[in-house]
Amino acid sequence: MKVFLFFFSIILVVQGCPPIIKRSEWSTRTSHCVDKLLPSRPYAVIHHTAGNRCFNMVDCKRQLRNIEYYHMQEKKWCDIGYNFIIGEDGNIYEGRGWTKVGAHTMKYNRISLGISIMGDFMYVTPNSKALKAAQSLIKCSASSGYLALNYTLKGHRQLGNTDCPGKALYQVIKKWPRWG
Ligand SMILES: *[C@@H]1O[C@H](CO)[C@@H](O)[C@H](O)[C@H]1NC(C)=O
Repeated sequence: MKVFLFFFSIILVVQGCPPIIKRSEWSTRTSHCVDKLLPSRPYAVIHHTAGNRCFNMVDCKRQLRNIEYYHMQEKKWCDIGYNFIIGEDGNIYEGRGWTKVGAHTMKYNRISLGISIMGDFMYVTPNSKALKAAQSLIKCSASSGYLALNYTLKGHRQLGNTDCPGKALYQVIKKWPRWG
């Protein structure tokens, strides 16, 4: 029973949404970003972290803490830059979440949700677990009102001078609903 409750407590349940692993379940740092009441955001922006891939929760959490260290300790940001981060363990990890402004796409942070898949997807695509998780997160963000129903899906490279989210992943998301 205790174990059962523990697993429920680490999952943030939002109606119509896949399970999302709370920030407090992978990090001991506190976000210093403030919540902002923003209208439904018109863009979902897909990123890759251009770092290591991870295929189980232990590795994914470790990788998240590395990225967080880089963003918070070295870049002095108020939190990890992305709104959500996805691993090839199939899990969705909360970063700044839905109510904070990310630091992932210049000029678009306030009007988008930044979703990043851990790994470098220049020449290989993320596995199907990660791709499914990303699609399900986008869908639920729209049905929950965090993304506008008429949102546009973008790859980071469409909005800035970058390879992100990697050539291979970009080819995949171009076939997803509402890409444009
Ligand atoms: C999306 O819908 C909103 C609200 O109805 C509207 O103001 C906006 O122009 C629409 N955006 C696009 C890209 O169609």
